[in-house]
Amino acid sequence: MPINTWLTRRALLAKGLAAASAAVLPSGSAVPDEASFSFLVVGDWGHAHSEGQRKVARAMGMAARRDQARFVVSTGDNFYPRGVTGVTDPLWRKAFESVYVDNALQGPWYPVLGNHDHKGNVAAERDYSAASSRWSMPADYYRHTEVLGSGNVVELFFLDTLPLSRAGDGFITRLFEPSAATQLSWLSAALAESKATWKIVVGHHPVFSTGPHGNTPALIASLKPLFDRYHVAAYVNGHDHNLQHIIVDGVSYLTCGSGAEAHPAAHSAESTFSAAVPGFMVVKMTPSAILVTFLDSQARVLYRATIPPRTAGH
Ligand SMILES: [Fe+2]
Ligand SMILES: [Zn+2]
Repeated sequence: MPINTWLTRRALLAKGLAAASAAVLPSGSAVPDEASFSFLVVGDWGHAHSEGQRKVARAMGMAARRDQARFVVSTGDNFYPRGVTGVTDPLWRKAFESVYVDNALQGPWYPVLGNHDHKGNVAAERDYSAASSRWSMPADYYRHTEVLGSGNVVELFFLDTLPLSRAGDGFITRLFEPSAATQLSWLSAALAESKATWKIVVGHHPVFSTGPHGNTPALIASLKPLFDRYHVAAYVNGHDHNLQHIIVDGVSYLTCGSGAEAHPAAHSAESTFSAAVPGFMVVKMTPSAILVTFLDSQARVLYRATIPPRTAGH
């Protein structure tokens, strides 16, 4: 892609227009000439701005350049150990701006909140969108739409899974219940009305995982039925600091939480891949399939998978 196309796209997608949403992006307006596009996924990267994070960031830059990635998705735990204190917190520079410096990583970033972000100032993570040329978090949960050159629509639904993950937690449940219920009805309605060829849901907590945190029963109860009913192709999460691909009832569950460090992940009957190495994911959207690639901190390919549509034409 010529650089001027990239700049045009950045101008079109940058902040506000892209984030605010989404559903109004005119068909094919951003990239009418391209049949496919790629984006990157990284999670749990705010770990003390470590050398591990910097290595993954460098590898992401290489991959983003090679694949002309359109944007970056963050699966949360963006800032450790207690989120950020405000939009002027030095952590923005230390853990984000001065780390993801490659030109190819200057497009929009679409993040979700993790449990560590919730320990800090959540409003500041939203408000930073106004101060940044790339950070694009319009709300705690939101949707974003892209259009392939073929006209096929790709829709991403970004969740705040902390309230959802606490269901069944006694006293805590009652605290989170109202926001969880509101968010679930929003997601259900949004998935039901979406005409996208590809629906991808992003959250911090895993639905299924073979890592230290394991499955999240509350999310299996609340999210899985929606994914099954509304033909969601993939759920992408962090929280467990590793890379995993688990397929349950035709839905791909992709853990991408080793943006700075790695914790062990086991195999299960339903897991097709797991790796306890720092890394990230490249997702290539095409009209007929989603191509998923996990890469390590030297941009070496660890695993590739092809995800077919859940149902033809829907
Ligand atoms: Fe984490
Ligand atoms: Zn977490």
